[in-house]
Amino acid sequence: MITNGTNAANGSTAHDQQKPKFDPNFTQHVIDLMSPETKPRHRQILTSLIRHMHDFCREVELQQDEWILGVNYINSLGQAYKKNRNETWRVQAADGKVPTSSSILGPFWSPDTPFRALGASVVQDMPPDGQLTRFRGVVRDVETGRGIPSAVFDMWQASTNGKYDAHDPENQSRHNLRGKFRTDADGRFDFYCLKPTEYAIDTSGPSAELLAVMGRHPWRPAHIHVMVTHDEYIGVTAQLYPDDDPYLETDTACAVKDDLLLHFTPVENEPNGAVLEVEYDVNLLSKEYKPDSNMLMQNANQDKF
Ligand SMILES: [Fe+2]
Repeated sequence: MITNGTNAANGSTAHDQQKPKFDPNFTQHVIDLMSPETKPRHRQILTSLIRHMHDFCREVELQQDEWILGVNYINSLGQAYKKNRNETWRVQAADGKVPTSSSILGPFWSPDTPFRALGASVVQDMPPDGQLTRFRGVVRDVETGRGIPSAVFDMWQASTNGKYDAHDPENQSRHNLRGKFRTDADGRFDFYCLKPTEYAIDTSGPSAELLAVMGRHPWRPAHIHVMVTHDEYIGVTAQLYPDDDPYLETDTACAVKDDLLLHFTPVENEPNGAVLEVEYDVNLLSKEYKPDSNMLMQNANQDKF
């Protein structure tokens, strides 16, 4: 699989840190996602744009908070006439420009997600076709391999209809399919969620026009968003994907990486009714990291309640 290959420590091992910081094939992969029907002039312009923008991001090693600052600025232009549009997240994700952290944040993170007890479920409103999944893992120090106590594992996901809580009030209560979990003394976390479902991005705006010019579909592979933080470690923002998803190679947001894949295993007679289970460990690099929370707050899209 060709993925963006930027410098995340997430899901990797100390040995993996020897790999090149950037995947040399990623930019060409994004360019090759354009359809054979793309008009030659459109192909020429977009190929050059993608190359230059990827080179720019690599050259300055653009960081997550810097990325968010730029996206929020561009969003503010659109919001000047329509609040909550956040169109630029989609446009720029379609170009495959991702920060040098693990993967994209997306427009649906919430600053108000509640902490839940280890072992709790984030499924407040179970859809008829939902597959309850036990999700567990360890947040580790990538250098020592030891579990990190009191790390925060913040996760959010769409329901089986492809919608997040804020955009689906008919079916979902606030904070449905969201939760923050604080790791125990051994760095472990454990909760219940749904197996995620593929969804197409909103195709009513200009991001869809760009995809149409490139002859690309609007589908995202199924995913669970995670943001893992600890005061003494570099935070990781990522999306985790079922390893059997049909859209891994052609993700409209180009946000899939090999170390972000989940393997779901069927289980029977699980005490809380889970039909699947998955394990995933997160590896963090030790370093003081203080993201500007104001930037994240500005991107939140939770004021529709
Ligand atoms: Fe998402």
